[in-house]
Amino acid sequence: MRLKKELKIPSESFQEIIEGGTKLLVPKKSLTDKVPPKEPAFFNPKARVNRDFSIIAYAAFLKNFQGPKIFLEGMSGIGARGLRVSNELKVDNTIINDLNPTALKMAKYSANQNELKNIEFSEKEVCRFLSNHSEKGERGSIVDIDPFGSPAAFFDCGIRATMHGGIFSAAATDLQVLNGLFQDACKRKYGGIPVRVKYGNEMAIRLVLGCLRMVAARLGVEIIPMFVESEMHYYRIYVKILNRPDQKKNLGYILHCKNCGHRKTSTEQEQKCELCNSEISVAGPLWIEDILDKKFIQNMLVEIQDLKVDKVCERTIQKCLAESEMPATYFTLDEIASKMKASPPKLEKIIQSLEQNNFAASVTAFNPTGFKTSANINEIIKIFQSTQ
Ligand SMILES: C[S@@+](CC[C@H](N)C(=O)[O-])C[C@H]1O[C@@H](n2cnc3c(N)ncnc32)[C@H](O)[C@@H]1O
Ligand SMILES: [Zn+2]
Repeated sequence: MRLKKELKIPSESFQEIIEGGTKLLVPKKSLTDKVPPKEPAFFNPKARVNRDFSIIAYAAFLKNFQGPKIFLEGMSGIGARGLRVSNELKVDNTIINDLNPTALKMAKYSANQNELKNIEFSEKEVCRFLSNHSEKGERGSIVDIDPFGSPAAFFDCGIRATMHGGIFSAAATDLQVLNGLFQDACKRKYGGIPVRVKYGNEMAIRLVLGCLRMVAARLGVEIIPMFVESEMHYYRIYVKILNRPDQKKNLGYILHCKNCGHRKTSTEQEQKCELCNSEISVAGPLWIEDILDKKFIQNMLVEIQDLKVDKVCERTIQKCLAESEMPATYFTLDEIASKMKASPPKLEKIIQSLEQNNFAASVTAFNPTGFKTSANINEIIKIFQSTQ
């Protein structure tokens, strides 16, 4: 009650909603405006599923983590993610941080409504907040940054604030930059160059991970991607942080031939397409190793059963499991069909045919008509023709 008074919440401007299993006080306008306003505080109701995925991923992590369970939320807005973590998962402590004092007041009010105990609030610039938690004993086992735009500026302090064996998660919403509309900006922000391709969302996530890998290597830290997720308006990564130097060659390039559609990953740049000898486009440097950890994804599927999340999450995570050991980059049915000037066969059919021809093949969570395979473009076309 005291908080409510302190907040002076005019009932016509704020509203209480329930997301997952948690009560949230949100600005009414954020529920009605097409683009959620930043004032008085930011809340995007459409990001509910995005937060559902966080809850599932964090639950899978916490289940098997032995150390202190501390969630540091660097850019909380009205606290939707942090409040849900505190209320819906088993954590020892949650610290919610944002620069916006109104957002924090609202988060405090919601914490009260949910009768949360082990939760603290901080009003600092995110790097200052995370730097306060970068010493041993102060670090978080889960650290999240969720900025407007690029997360790259916060990678150093984010990694430093994550304990050994912990999870660092981050979102990127500068889609045009990552998808190759502004190549110079991408090079500047992420240290790598994208190429405009049909599988641009996967390439973008690999660019974000590549940048994180470069920062981590500088700090003598290894990152292991556990789970990634992409939607219309954002990309999200979840990586394990290990305090040891990374010796692996997980940075490289995607070589993409715009003439024949062939693509591959490589630690070296190449000039010509190995299939058609045309000039090849080079994306990167970016992350070329696995981006989905099979065991972690299996754990997510176990944990999901006890959580209040959207049904779509399980279907997506099932796809992640199917593709977790597949090669990088996916093809789309449309891409192949337009090359062949034919209507595309059914997705299940083409996957089945690829497998019957001894290629690995799976659906992909990145695209409803996408598939991953060990076959190259010429081999895929041959199999397409036989399934017509
Ligand atoms: C995309 S919103 C966060 C949304 C929130 N995580 C959620 O799931 O609802 C970004 C937030 O970052 C905050 N912010 C922006 N720059 C910041 C900075 N340098 N330090 C701390 N917070 C910042 C904004 O006030 C805003 O609330
Ligand atoms: Zn080619």
